[in-house]
Amino acid sequence: MVDQRAVMDALRSVNDPELHRDIVSLNMVRGLQVSDGAVSFELVLTTPACPLRETIDRDVRSALAAVSGVEAVEIDWGAEVRSTAPREGGPRPIQGVRNAIAVASNKGGVGKSTVAVNLAVALASLGARVGLLDADITGPNIPTMLGIQGGLQAEGGQGLRPVEAHGVHAVSIGFVLPPGTPVVWRGPMIGTGVRQLMHDVEWGDLDYLVIDLPPGTSDASMSMCQDALIAGVVIVSTPQQVALEDARKAIGMFDRLGVPIFGIVENMSGEIFGRGGARDAADEFGVEFLGELPLDAAIREAGDSGRPVVVAAPEAPVAQAFIELAEQVAARCSVLQFAGEAGAVA
Ligand SMILES: Nc1ncnc2c1ncn2[C@@H]1O[C@H](COP(=O)(O)OP(=O)(O)OP(=O)(O)O)[C@@H](O)[C@H]1O
Ligand SMILES: [Mg+2]
Repeated sequence: MVDQRAVMDALRSVNDPELHRDIVSLNMVRGLQVSDGAVSFELVLTTPACPLRETIDRDVRSALAAVSGVEAVEIDWGAEVRSTAPREGGPRPIQGVRNAIAVASNKGGVGKSTVAVNLAVALASLGARVGLLDADITGPNIPTMLGIQGGLQAEGGQGLRPVEAHGVHAVSIGFVLPPGTPVVWRGPMIGTGVRQLMHDVEWGDLDYLVIDLPPGTSDASMSMCQDALIAGVVIVSTPQQVALEDARKAIGMFDRLGVPIFGIVENMSGEIFGRGGARDAADEFGVEFLGELPLDAAIREAGDSGRPVVVAAPEAPVAQAFIELAEQVAARCSVLQFAGEAGAVA
């Protein structure tokens, strides 16, 4: 006979490697059943994009192997994404969105939109419910990158609605403007536009909303941080030494606005631009380094053709690099949710 309490004690000895708490007190173990020598339960992760599933699986199995009488272990894997804890006196959450993740850089053309699109598609491919907000109001690129026809919602007066592409629910001002229409707006209008995209769109129920920002410490970024609860920001940087300068500015701005930095990702890494600058910047500013994305013609071709590389060539190393980035970002998000909770309790 297997003692159910001994099984629970064994499970309680297993820690989530990132949250540094045991999987029982994290309420990750559900519906435990013990009959004869067979143990089965559901293990509910904090994100379907969990990079540590194999580690947890191994730790659970070795802990249970030590319980006398256990002969078989069956784990039914699940995931439940929690919501970002609101900050006291901070902005309200976006309705229906558990975690808003912004993609930013100080410089233009470093690959924010490319990273935002592939991050969103990668999170969706891992099983999360994902939205993508194009906050680049004067230069929306999301329709092209996702292969969504520009201007398709221009008629009918129903306003902007999410369009699903590659498993992602996207919204862009490009959906209501005929392609090629220039948007010449002053700063305050851009702020209002971003606020409306965040709060007036019916997003439905999303685990993650990825927000593609325009370059710089702009009206869009300010408005986003002041008007909505943001889980964290992914800073995109190229490898050059100037990356350090740019990362410093971007990090400084989000720090002042009280928005957490998930980390820095190095894009266009490789022979031409070099590599390592973004990692150095991360070290210098004490933020996480989230990984390297190579300079690769396939990334640009995929972006131009409306089929992000994560779906166009899922087996390619570049697609894998985006999947790993998605896992890192999801893990950072989970870690900050718990840090927020701990902060609230203290
Ligand atoms: N790793 C990469 N390898 C090859 N091409 C890339 C890579 N990353 C981005 N690109 C290409 O570089 C160009 C600029 O990328 P993108 O539009 O994503 O940058 P951005 O930072 O969003 O620009 P902006 O500041 O104008 O919004 C695009 O043509 C894109 O396809
Ligand atoms: Mg862009």
